[in-house]
Amino acid sequence: MSLLSADATELGYLLAAVCFILALKGLSSPRSARRGNLIGAAGAALALAVAFLSGDLDHLVPIVVAIAVGTALAVPAARMVKMTQMPQLVALFNGVGGGAAALVALLELGETAGGTSAWEGDLAAVAFTVLVGAVSFAGSVVTFLKLQEIMTTRPVVLPGAKPLMIGGLVVSLGVAVAVFGSGQPVLASLLGLLGLVVGVMLVLPVGGADVPIVISLLNAFTGLTVAAGGFVLGNTLLLVAGTLVGASGTILTRLMAAAMGRSVAGVMFGALRGGSTAGSTAVSSRPVRSVSPEDVAILLGYARKVIVVPGYGLAVAQAQHTIRELEEMLRGRGIEVLYGIHPVAGRMPGHMNVLLAEANVPYQALKEMDEVNPEFRTTDVVLVVGANDVVNPAAKTSPGAPIYGMPILEVSDAQQVVFLKRSMRPGFAGIENELLFDPKTSLLFGDAKESLAKVLAAVKGL
Ligand code: TAP
Repeated sequence: MSLLSADATELGYLLAAVCFILALKGLSSPRSARRGNLIGAAGAALALAVAFLSGDLDHLVPIVVAIAVGTALAVPAARMVKMTQMPQLVALFNGVGGGAAALVALLELGETAGGTSAWEGDLAAVAFTVLVGAVSFAGSVVTFLKLQEIMTTRPVVLPGAKPLMIGGLVVSLGVAVAVFGSGQPVLASLLGLLGLVVGVMLVLPVGGADVPIVISLLNAFTGLTVAAGGFVLGNTLLLVAGTLVGASGTILTRLMAAAMGRSVAGVMFGALRGGSTAGSTAVSSRPVRSVSPEDVAILLGYARKVIVVPGYGLAVAQAQHTIRELEEMLRGRGIEVLYGIHPVAGRMPGHMNVLLAEANVPYQALKEMDEVNPEFRTTDVVLVVGANDVVNPAAKTSPGAPIYGMPILEVSDAQQVVFLKRSMRPGFAGIENELLFDPKTSLLFGDAKESLAKVLAAVKGL
């Protein structure tokens, strides 16, 4: 029984679509991101309510059971996940979305009893949804396993991977054309299985720092799959929401690849072409200048301008509140303090902005790479807190390095550079950082939060 008229249903979906667009707008700035998220969630809740009240739903009981199971699994997972594990959670949620869209298209095809009477446009959308949805699901599961370190994070290139990959794609496209021509559910199921194989083969050769870029690409795939699913079901809201995810995922993928100085094709097929996308984890034994928290406090005490460069280690140590305290104390002593934010610092887009916003660091103090790079020349001390790759000069000087071509924060232009890290282990890309051995560099070894707390205490005592 329908509680909403057809017009009210369409109006509800339109409002939900507007909410999704406003949510994206809100997410474009850290200042409005929280509000954007809430608007998006409200849009999703509205869409769900309209779907139930419209009376269009068959199989109500399994739908309610599926929602209950999904909620019981997803809510604790999302609440308990550590910020540093967010990319793999996003990968998993995203993959499930692609898989769900593929299953819906398969079921829809089955319900048209062979689908021979279906409009050709529908069949093209079904073939697309099943293939790309299955690729997105399988690929996302592999990225999850890699980032969770359940399997190796390095590129896995199987013998004959290139011909297998090309063969898999050609056969899949052939079967997709056959689905389009015949509308046979059996062929569509075969297409889904082929999509799973292609998804695994596509992501296995991607490793190291490139995995999160692939997550973003698969996210875009899922968006397009959902949009095509909307076409199959005749649901405008799915069409709009899927297109938004597809477009924003594509833009994000390109931005992330550009920020790392790579092309999307290079990320996806680099290892197949013979280039490695991950370095080693060897630990250097070359001598470095190690300093105490008191030494760092004295350096800071005499500085006029300090720039903090946060990285992945800041997130691991959860040192955002301590760095904020130190920043306030230095400001209180008349020292100018800025934060230099690299676009791929940490493990996800905006990782450092989110952390520092949590500690109430003023937005004006956060400077993006292009804005902060000229500032280093007039800076007395740079505090590199748990960052490595984003300041590694190998990005400019070592053509063989996995990060070669990535723009970096030019911290070596400053008078003094202090690294806060626990050991001589390399960063995510697995390559040595020559800057650690530079005469103007000193290292304060230890967990970033503990080290910063000691520096804070020592600055207080100056
Ligand atoms: P990394 O190069 O990964 O370096 C992190 C540093 O933090 C390491 O030197 C590590 O050294 C230190 N560290 C770890 N835990 C610590 C702790 N508890 N206390 C103090 N130090 C700690 O990080 P980055 O400079 O932020 O670069 C990010 C990397 O991730 C880049 O390679 C980037 O391409 C990649 N990536 C980023 C993204 C996005 S979108 N952000 C996506 C994909 C890939 P120790 O182990 O010696 O302490």
